[in-house]
Amino acid sequence: MREFKEMTLETDRLSLVRIKGETHGEELNRVVCDTFESLEPWVPWAFKIPTVEDTINGLRLTTDNHNNYIFNIYLRENDHELIGNAKCVTIDKENCYELGYWLHQKHCGKGFTTECVQRLIKFARNELKASAAVMIINENNKASLRIADKTGFQFVRKILEDSYALRPEWKDRMNHYVQVLL
Ligand SMILES: CC(C)(COP(=O)(O)OP(=O)(O)OC[C@H]1O[C@@H](n2cnc3c(N)ncnc32)[C@H](O)[C@@H]1OP(=O)(O)O)[C@@H](O)C(=O)NCCC(=O)NCCS
Repeated sequence: MREFKEMTLETDRLSLVRIKGETHGEELNRVVCDTFESLEPWVPWAFKIPTVEDTINGLRLTTDNHNNYIFNIYLRENDHELIGNAKCVTIDKENCYELGYWLHQKHCGKGFTTECVQRLIKFARNELKASAAVMIINENNKASLRIADKTGFQFVRKILEDSYALRPEWKDRMNHYVQVLL
């Protein structure tokens, strides 16, 4: 297993800081709890308000594999306020990464996530040498579908929700599987 390498990706307005559960779980938990209601309809793990330990353990499930990248999203201005989180993680398909994101609702509608995804695509292409990036987005999540569209993703197919272990009530929900070739 390769070593965990710290890194920060910059955009005009954002700093994306790579994290592990142990290093940033507590501050991330505060933002998750503060914006929980806006995450609950769309994010599988937001089925109950998490404790700090829940957040740290949840992050560890992903970041213990050092081929996965989770980034806290900070504003470069405003004293580096933490405003959300994004992922770029390995999936079964070779040389392909899945991207994901969420933002505190008070910072939505300002193009921050679009800016973040554009930077993640560049990172996946130039540094991970990935051949493709994919996202899985609920068919009713219009804001997220719009981000996919704006950042060059193409619709590939519809797929059934597969997180019903966490969200039994989502059993029949449909998602869009979208892809951008790098
Ligand atoms: C989805 C989310 C990340 C968007 O973040 P954001 O920073 O507001 O996104 P951006 O401002 O970069 O872009 C959003 C785009 O969607 C559009 N949009 C927002 N709500 C919309 C709606 N209900 N219908 C259609 N378009 C919508 C915005 O107008 C904007 O497009 P534009 O630039 O053409 O005007 C944020 O709302 C969020 O965290 N939601 C909860 C978690 C979530 O859904 N995560 C994604 C799971 S796949």
